Amino acid sequence: MNIAIVGATGNVGRKILEVIEKLDFKFSDLYLIASDKSIGKKITFKNKTYSIIGLNDFDFSKVKIAFFSAGSGVAEKWAPIAAKKTIVIDNSKHFRMEKDIPLVVPEVNADTLKNYKNKNIIANANCSTIQLVLALKPLHDQFKIKRVIVSTYQSVSGAGNVHIKELEEQSKKVLDKQKVSSKNFTKQIAFNVIPHIDSFMKDRYTKEEWKMTVETKKILDPNILVSATCVRVPVFVGHAESINIEFNSEVDSEKIRECLKKAPGCKVIDEVKDGGYITPVESSGDYLTYISRIRDDMTQKNSINMWVVSDNLLKGAALNAVQIANFLIKKYIR
Ligand SMILES: NC(=O)c1ccc[n+]([C@@H]2O[C@H](COP(=O)([O-])OP(=O)(O)OC[C@H]3O[C@@H](n4cnc5c(N)ncnc54)[C@H](OP(=O)(O)O)[C@@H]3O)[C@@H](O)[C@H]2O)c1
Repeated sequence: MNIAIVGATGNVGRKILEVIEKLDFKFSDLYLIASDKSIGKKITFKNKTYSIIGLNDFDFSKVKIAFFSAGSGVAEKWAPIAAKKTIVIDNSKHFRMEKDIPLVVPEVNADTLKNYKNKNIIANANCSTIQLVLALKPLHDQFKIKRVIVSTYQSVSGAGNVHIKELEEQSKKVLDKQKVSSKNFTKQIAFNVIPHIDSFMKDRYTKEEWKMTVETKKILDPNILVSATCVRVPVFVGHAESINIEFNSEVDSEKIRECLKKAPGCKVIDEVKDGGYITPVESSGDYLTYISRIRDDMTQKNSINMWVVSDNLLKGAALNAVQIANFLIKKYIR
């Protein structure tokens, strides 16, 4: 089976390569695609050197699966063209809320992959949504969630290459006591936090906050109420979330902790001592989503608080996409 990666030079694209190697994902030929400025650049992968090609020059009938991680604009234009000849797994936000397109986190709703032929496009969920629903799924199955209030602490790699560079440059300048200017972020990100990710909507929420709400409903249950506040923090890799959950049935933090110990793709590290929790830096490079600080909400019945951390480039994007491909191959395609 041949595969293509559109956006192969990007943060997520490079992580897709890494995951393919680590999970020993079998393929025959590999095609690496990026923007015109990268055409001809070389990437060495598994001892073989590949030349980057452009979208205009590529015939998607050469591949069985095309991973797209090149942003919404590229997905909007090129994924439907590619999907006439191959199966597209897209990391962008463009197709996620389209009714006929499965929005998939395999541990949570792999069954929806059966509908992949509707458009031959499968959407990867938002990085913040993925780690949220991973932790919510077993809790909803056992205790029925009524409402979720989530605040995110999202790393700059979630925004792309130029944002990583901006944090690096600004951090150096602040330490050197030089004047800092912002090009890609709306405010200084170094040694600061910004309560604004993606564009503002009419109701005063941001699109990132909206995505977390509607994607959670689509993936898990439309009846769950979700209120999100999304914040960019000066961390390179790894998103964290502070989550308050109200349940319809009787719960306490002990029952929740026991239930989460069985959550696929997750690991509970929750000790009441200095350092008895996981931070974004420790999650970086890891395939698991970590759950810490599980405790009763003292102000409301049947409610708990917890802290969830995951590598946004891996489970939040590349790993999830490759897991989707693995499921497809195992169950639906040859
Ligand atoms: N980062 C995350 O945590 C995360 C999580 C979930 C989903 N996503 C989504 O994944 C996508 C990629 O994110 P990223 O962080 O990897 O971004 P990135 O580091 O900025 O990389 C973007 C990639 O897209 C390529 N590209 C840009 N314009 C193109 C065009 N016209 N034709 C072909 N390729 C083009 C770039 O190629 P050049 O190098 O040639 O410019 C590069 O390979 C985005 O939709 C993002 O929202 C990201």
